[in-house]
Amino acid sequence: MVAREQVLEALKDIVDPVTGQSIVEHHFIRDIVAKEDRVSLTVVTASEQEQHRFQLEREIRELLSQSGVKDIHIRFRAMSERERLEAGLGHQAATEHNQQHTEPPTQPQGHGAGLESNSLLTSDTKFIAIASGKGGVGKSTVTVNIAAALARQGCKVGIIDADIYGFSIPDMMGIEERPQIVDDRVIPIERFGVKVISMGFFVEDNAPIVWRGPMLGKMLRNFFQEVNWGDLDYMLLDLPPGTGDIALDVHQMLPQSQEIIVTTPHATAAFVAARAGTMAIHTKHEIIGVIENMAYYECSDCGQKDYVFGRGGGARLAESLNCDLLAQIPLGAPDNHPSEADFSPSVYKDSTPTGQIYNDIAQQIIRKYE
Ligand SMILES: Nc1ncnc2c1ncn2[C@@H]1O[C@H](COP(=O)(O)OP(=O)(O)OP(=O)(O)O)[C@@H](O)[C@H]1O
Ligand SMILES: [Mg+2]
Repeated sequence: MVAREQVLEALKDIVDPVTGQSIVEHHFIRDIVAKEDRVSLTVVTASEQEQHRFQLEREIRELLSQSGVKDIHIRFRAMSERERLEAGLGHQAATEHNQQHTEPPTQPQGHGAGLESNSLLTSDTKFIAIASGKGGVGKSTVTVNIAAALARQGCKVGIIDADIYGFSIPDMMGIEERPQIVDDRVIPIERFGVKVISMGFFVEDNAPIVWRGPMLGKMLRNFFQEVNWGDLDYMLLDLPPGTGDIALDVHQMLPQSQEIIVTTPHATAAFVAARAGTMAIHTKHEIIGVIENMAYYECSDCGQKDYVFGRGGGARLAESLNCDLLAQIPLGAPDNHPSEADFSPSVYKDSTPTGQIYNDIAQQIIRKYE
């Protein structure tokens, strides 16, 4: 039986190969879970180099084994910009950071898949969670379409369908196949250039899921850690509706996530969506924008817009959350036909007016991260 303090005591002499600082003293050991003779922890390191990580891992394993720990699980996470500054790496950080950002786009697609990306949480991937105050406002539709639009712009994109009970992404994208497992890692399904993982892939015949509590968190963690995502520029998360436990768990698992809040134009919907905004702010997630879905119905003959669900909710919400209204998306399902080879019920084609609106959203997102 080991306790957290014993873990820290055992590791106190290990120094980070880049900073030369004690990893314990500088709080670079995080998320310690010590249970009987099992320990799992995260190491936050200034180095992206595998050899440094191997070295740290070897030292940690050796010292913990000497302390009687039998089962050791180590995750690595790269220091955030702020952590680098706090560690006194300001200048060096800027240089390393720039290198990381200029090199990857020149690599061919798929480069590095599965090599260093053991855990998605250690990579440079930008996380964007799609949230809403209530269900049925179009969160999942917006998620798949932003993902497809980002992929059309040449970005490497993944979706985690984090709506474990209400998964809908596979059906919406027209995915019928199931993921393969290679070397103990799940290979996400790729559709419209987007890599997708969903609880729906692991449930037989659409059976309802009765898991509760810890299993949910565990499943989500698996989606991050047991899936071979490769290099991704963006990871979109379709959150469960509302502001309950699961949504909160996902929020807390993703320290650097940004959020997009989806609402319908009705004043009440926007008011409820503001709660999701408040939750994002509480968990220190920056809201990059609001999307007003089902904003109006446009007559295909005369082009007149009817604001059937009310008007102005998205703009008011964006104002109250102090962020941009990224788009107003009209009512209307995609005009896709089941006989098409890449049929999907919910992805608007590039050439359609709504597809173009999503392209515009994707471009706004890309600009925000430039
Ligand atoms: N702009 C739109 N025009 C017409 N129908 C839409 C539009 N956006 C979404 N829908 C439809 O509305 C329904 C709800 O959308 P969706 O499942 O994306 O919402 P959600 O917020 O993810 O819901 P849930 O809370 O159940 O996860 C779906 O049937 C979807 O096809
Ligand atoms: Mg949904």
